[in-house]
Parts: sequence; structure tokens; C-alpha cells
Amino acid sequence: MSQSATLTTDQAFEVPPERRPRHVAVIMDGNGRWAQRRNLPRIEGHRRGVNSVRQTVEEAARLHLQQLTLFCLSSENWKRPQRELDFLMHLLEQYMIEERATILRQNIVVSIIGRREGIPEATLREMDETVRLSAANNGTRLCLAINYGSRLEIVDATRAIARAVRDGHLQVDQIDEQTISDHLYTRGMPDPDLLIRTAGEMRISNYLLWQISYAELWVTERCWPEFEIADLHQALRDFAGRDRRFGGLKS
Ligand code: IPE
Ligand code: MG
Repeated sequence: MSQSATLTTDQAFEVPPERRPRHVAVIMDGNGRWAQRRNLPRIEGHRRGVNSVRQTVEEAARLHLQQLTLFCLSSENWKRPQRELDFLMHLLEQYMIEERATILRQNIVVSIIGRREGIPEATLREMDETVRLSAANNGTRLCLAINYGSRLEIVDATRAIARAVRDGHLQVDQIDEQTISDHLYTRGMPDPDLLIRTAGEMRISNYLLWQISYAELWVTERCWPEFEIADLHQALRDFAGRDRRFGGLKS
């Protein structure tokens, strides 16, 4: 580890565990722009982006964050050229294979949210294998949003709730916020406290719409392939300085 990396790692300890977010969600954006600015094909940006994923996941585990949720592929990304999609699937599959040992060693529990339709069989197999093996762990939860769209998730939840009412398992008046949370793909997970977005765009892009109601937003101009541990630490420090009132008054 270089000296500067050691320095920033130590600085993160300035944020005491009780001031750290339990759940950090990330919109990893700007892979294509990073590549295009360097006259590289877009897929090079995705390849480099995997390094940022690796570093972020390992640091989240080292800091004992309860959960990290990464937006890997949105249900809207299917509009992209087939060649780029094929490469993204290939990267996903490779990540599942190459990082499996590290994930298991770091006590990380992997889960996937999103629809399975459209993901190649071989990619699903490697995803499922990592999820299965890591289920015995009990450390940081790594949730990968793949072919994920928040509105679709809400549609799926609404259908499930409607079926439960139709079949007599639930009364209409019993439906409350918890009922909705319990029928989303993220059931059982804490809501994100902090949402990080790279590449500067000020939007949510159909990501965890219900779950981020009270999340603190943190946006950096840096593209995802440039995102380093020092950036994660900065986001955590800024989060620790935010005054979260959840609609109430300052205590
Ligand atoms: C994010 O980078 C990665 C994925 C959506 C898979 P982009 O590919 O969206 O990069 P830009 O936004 O075109 O720069
Ligand atoms: Mg983008």
C-alpha cells in the first residue's frame, strides 16, 4: 500500500462507527465518458470501473459498513448496443468468479436485486454461485442491482400485495409503509442512509425510489473509473457532518 493510501485509510477512522452510514448505495456512472475523454472505446471505461468496484467493496467490508448497494445495470440499459451489453455481462461474470475468494474471505454476503430476464445463463450461474457460497457469511452485505428498475420493483410489489389481498392473506386497511417495504426486492434491508453518485449528474435514474426517501445525497464530478477509496472516505466524512432531522427539528 502506498503512503498516501495509508494516510487516507487512517483518516477514515476519524469518523467513529456510530457516525458512519449503515447502508451506502451507489450510482456508478461515467464509465463511457471516462473512456471517451481518453479516446478509448466505452468498454475500456467499464473494464476500469471494475477496479473501482473492487476497491469500494473491500473498503466497505474493512470499515464494517452494514450494506453497500451498487447499481450495476438498470432495466433501461438494454437500449445500449449489443456489443456493449455483451461486454457488461462478461465483466459481471468475471467479477463473480475472480472476486469470489476475496468476498468469502472478507465475510461479505452477496445478494442480487433486479429481474433475471435477459441475463445470460452463464452469468446467472456465476451470480447464483457467489450468492450461495457467501450466504454462510455474516459481515458486510453487498447488494448488486442488476437489470434493476425502481418503478418495475414497485409494480412487482403492488402485484404481490394485490394478490395477498385477493387471496385473503391481507386486509386493505392493514397495508402500511412496512407492507410496501416488505414486498420490495430489498425486503429485510435497511434503507440507504447515503447515496453516492459519480460523474456529476443530479438525478436518481429510477434507483431505489422508495428506499432513498431520507438518504443523504453525495455527488462527485469524478467518473466511476476514477473513484478511489479516498473519495469514499470523503463521502463518509461529509455524511458524518450532515444534520439529519427526518422532518423533525434539530435535537
Ligand atoms: C455507468 O457508466 C456504467 C453502467 C451504466 C453499466 P455509463 O456507461 O453510463 O457511462 P456514461 O454515462 O455513458 O459516461
Ligand atoms: Mg451513464
